[in-house]
Amino acid sequence: MNDFVLEFKNVCIDYPLKKYTLRAVNNVSLNVRRGKITALVGESGSGKTTLSSSIIKCISEPGIIAQGEVIFHGKDDAEYHIEKMNDKELRNFRWNKVSMVFQAAQSALNPVLTVRQHFYETLDEHNIKLTKQEKEERCLKLLDYVKLDAERVLKCYPHELSGGMKQRVMIALSLLLDPELIILDEPTTALDVITQSYIFNLLKEINETMGITMLLMTHDISVVASFADYIAVMYGGTIMEYGRVIDVFKNKKHPYTKGLINATPSIVGDMTEVKPIEGSPPNMLALPTGCVFHNRCEKCMKKCTEKAPEVTTYKDGSFVKCYLYSKEEK
Ligand SMILES: Nc1ncnc2c1ncn2[C@@H]1O[C@H](COP(=O)(O)OP(=O)(O)OP(=O)(O)O)[C@@H](O)[C@H]1O
Ligand SMILES: [Mg+2]
Repeated sequence: MNDFVLEFKNVCIDYPLKKYTLRAVNNVSLNVRRGKITALVGESGSGKTTLSSSIIKCISEPGIIAQGEVIFHGKDDAEYHIEKMNDKELRNFRWNKVSMVFQAAQSALNPVLTVRQHFYETLDEHNIKLTKQEKEERCLKLLDYVKLDAERVLKCYPHELSGGMKQRVMIALSLLLDPELIILDEPTTALDVITQSYIFNLLKEINETMGITMLLMTHDISVVASFADYIAVMYGGTIMEYGRVIDVFKNKKHPYTKGLINATPSIVGDMTEVKPIEGSPPNMLALPTGCVFHNRCEKCMKKCTEKAPEVTTYKDGSFVKCYLYSKEEK
């Protein structure tokens, strides 16, 4: 079995608009480790949702994978080239192999369907042949698993559930067809901190007991520290740094990673050390030349303004895209 469930190879994703084309993801290469939780972090607009939705070819209109390959490696050693898949192949692939809990997932539930109908429709759409009793048992088991009062919740319409309950319904739904990878796009936004931590503990338990790989997008650096195994830091459509969470937090390489992590307050830390990154996120239609971060970077050198640095990859698979490390071991 391949150690990686997913490979992005030089992926570029464009939104062709009327007068211009916006390149939201620019030449991203990343391998996602099987059975682990990889966090994708970065400021708003850096391309996290665009990149992750390419995995199920669900990029919002009019987005397209303009270049590169997105390859999924199944447990059965089958290889799926997602950028080449047609609609029929995608229908079989989504939910079965990869499911996604979307940003603002709470509004993804159809207000006129009960929770039971959501589950049944998903099973029917994928031609899962189960008796009524088997279906019922499966739904109850999953809702119970996400610690909801299964009997009651199954009968409810979305408006009868709280935000955290809807979120857990979405997580249960994403597990319905036993996927190998779950993409979680800010699964706890708009929830209180206690419910947030409850949901993250639940996700960690699902990851550990079922061995399901997770790709998590979040703005919450403390969640990454306590919950993820690997971290990829995105800025202006590019991955600036990738590595094991424990290594990256201990030894942050890219000036943007340092800025992002230092901008996060800690309960035990000294508030005077919390420093926001100067400047604002880049305009994706007028990205700076050279390194996309150079105009906000404290370490900016002349060459950074002229040409983007190559990726420096280390033996353990971690990498950084910054001239400060370009002479280090490849
Ligand atoms: N449907 C679309 N049409 C045109 N541009 C889009 C579309 N969706 C996203 N974009 C642009 O692509 C870029 C990346 O957006 P994306 O939603 O991937 O960012 P993100 O990192 O997920 O941000 P956030 O943290 O706010 O969710 C942004 O500049 C955004 O304006
Ligand atoms: Mg997003």
